[in-house]
Amino acid sequence: MVEVYYHDNKDTIDDFTEPHNSGVPVSLDTLSKIGVFYRQIKTQEDLDNLATQRDYKNRDEVNLNLAAFNNDINAYNAKMQQFYKEHYHEDEEIRYIVDGEGYFDVRDENDKWIRTKLNKYDLLILPAGIYHRFTLTDDLKYVRAVRLFKDEPKWEAINRDTGKESEVRLSYAQSIVV
Ligand code: LAC
Ligand code: NI
Repeated sequence: MVEVYYHDNKDTIDDFTEPHNSGVPVSLDTLSKIGVFYRQIKTQEDLDNLATQRDYKNRDEVNLNLAAFNNDINAYNAKMQQFYKEHYHEDEEIRYIVDGEGYFDVRDENDKWIRTKLNKYDLLILPAGIYHRFTLTDDLKYVRAVRLFKDEPKWEAINRDTGKESEVRLSYAQSIVV
C-alpha cells in the first residue's frame, strides 16, 4: 500500500534514496486535488481495464537496479541522478509497480514536495505538466514497473532548471491554483 507524506527537504546528493519523511502525512484526497491519482491494482485485467478507460495505447516495462546496468555503479548513479532531477512531461503518464519499490515525489499547489512511496500493486497517475522526480529506495534499490503511455512512448523530460514552461505546463499550473 502506498505511503504519502511531505518530504523533509533535507536530502543531499548522497542520501536522496533515504525516506526523508517529515512526519507530516498527506491524504490521497489531497493528492487528487493536484491531479495525482492513486489506485491499487492487483490483476492484469484491472490494469488493462484502466488503460482502456483512460485511452492508453502503449506500455513498456522497466527493470531498475544495479544489475540492470551490468553492475556499473557509475552508469547506475548517473541514471539515478537523471531520474531525481525535477522535471515534467507533456503527456499524462501512468506508473505501475510490479515488484520492488520506489519514491515518486510530486510538487503540491504550494510548490512543496510530496513523497509517495510505491510498492507492489501501487499505481500512480501523473497529470501532464506536473513537476516530479523519482528514485529507488535505499532499502531495496530495485523496482520493476510498467509505464503506460497514451500514445507513443515519449521520453522527453523538461527539467525545471531550464525554465522552459510549455503550454501544457502552464495550463496544469493554472488548474491547481488555490
Ligand atoms: C518518470 C520518472 C522517472 O517519469 O520521472 O517515470
Ligand atoms: Ni518523469
